[in-house]
Amino acid sequence: MSSINMVGPSGQLYGEVVPGQDETQFQQDNTSSEYYNSPYFTNHKNQVQSIPPPQPGVPLQILLKDFVAPEIMAAITSANQIVFHSVGDTGAAKVSKNQTAATAIAQQASVADAIAAEVQSGGANPPAFFFHLGDVVYNFGEGKYYYDQFFEPYRGYDRPIFAIAGNHDGMVFGNTPDVPQTPSLLAFLRNFCAASPRVSQDAGGLVRSVMTQPGVYFTLDTPFVSIIGLYSNVLDGPGVISSQGGHYPISDDQLTFLESELTRLKPARKAGKQGIILALHHPPLSVDGDHSGSTGPSADIDNICTKIGLWPDIVLSGHAHLYQRFTRRVGSQQIPYIVSGSGGFAATAPQTKAPPAPFTIGDQTLEVDPIIQFGYLNIVASATQIKVVFRCPTVYGVQENDSVTLDLKSGTISQGASTSTASTTLVTKKPSATKKKPSTKARKKTSKSG
Ligand SMILES: [Fe+2]
Repeated sequence: MSSINMVGPSGQLYGEVVPGQDETQFQQDNTSSEYYNSPYFTNHKNQVQSIPPPQPGVPLQILLKDFVAPEIMAAITSANQIVFHSVGDTGAAKVSKNQTAATAIAQQASVADAIAAEVQSGGANPPAFFFHLGDVVYNFGEGKYYYDQFFEPYRGYDRPIFAIAGNHDGMVFGNTPDVPQTPSLLAFLRNFCAASPRVSQDAGGLVRSVMTQPGVYFTLDTPFVSIIGLYSNVLDGPGVISSQGGHYPISDDQLTFLESELTRLKPARKAGKQGIILALHHPPLSVDGDHSGSTGPSADIDNICTKIGLWPDIVLSGHAHLYQRFTRRVGSQQIPYIVSGSGGFAATAPQTKAPPAPFTIGDQTLEVDPIIQFGYLNIVASATQIKVVFRCPTVYGVQENDSVTLDLKSGTISQGASTSTASTTLVTKKPSATKKKPSTKARKKTSKSG
């Protein structure tokens, strides 16, 4: 285990040198579920919010090499593959009156500590970053909860965390019917889309630098894979990425962006140099009764992919608080659509019972029965394949509960459920001098899902 933490090329800091013990109480009493009854939210809960424009004059593409130390990039080159993490819906917030804060915190911490341990014990080419699939902070993305739900849980994760925003990150409330108390995505933009990598005002003294993503939609270019991230807005359902022909009062800028990105990436993809992952918080396909698939984004994406003649190799989403894996067939291409909203908030079973997997409707096959466990995706990408493994922390260690490998040349998958226990060594945490004392106030309110 390294005792020296990474410093990014622009001076970015990520993990604490001594992460300390997990919290057992929240520093801030989370009372935001009461905002579900606020005049602004009740009046506007079925409406989308406008999409914040990207930072002016900044490219919509960011390069991994600008966020990690040169030796990390050298290790990726040397290994001929990149390893990274992805999952959504991580925020620790109580989901019922009966759940203790300690339970909520422990559920998020089980995943957060496992991915931090993989970085520490990952050998010559450990995971290079975490791509968060949205719903970072419940229930309204408030800055004051970023410590308890983001900075503190990931204080031991010594790598950059990129993020697309989920509905909870953009949802707004207020005591007047027409004006929200704070603009949509205010704290998300402050912490993920800053102009420079400074200390966050929301970090409570922890060192993790704010991220400098260009906006809520962007592409992360890494060796072997590019990840196109889209913002699917604030509704519990459905996801919305465009006006859908004037149906929603938002811009179509994300469609223009997606089209230009697929056009940009097509030569490298066709040359067998680069895979393409598309990430959006709301899943285009889902069997979860609470969080079903979103046909609007699915049609938007299909229209553009058809026009350009290029589909993403894999589609990643969160929002539904479980793990689901579909295969979508487009011609001879098999595209994994993976839902992993299993990062710590309220693992939730499907409300409607789906037929046993595998079952097929049209061009979509649900390959495995939904897995209702907290867990995360470990993704390994090379020039020839992308392997996605769903790993679940258990008291016996980290268990691999599903995997799929996509051959980038043929566009076909091989897959297999797995029950092996990975040999990940969990990091031993010691008290950190940088952490504030947690609040002694107990949390009183319940929160909603999503
Ligand atoms: Fe969500």
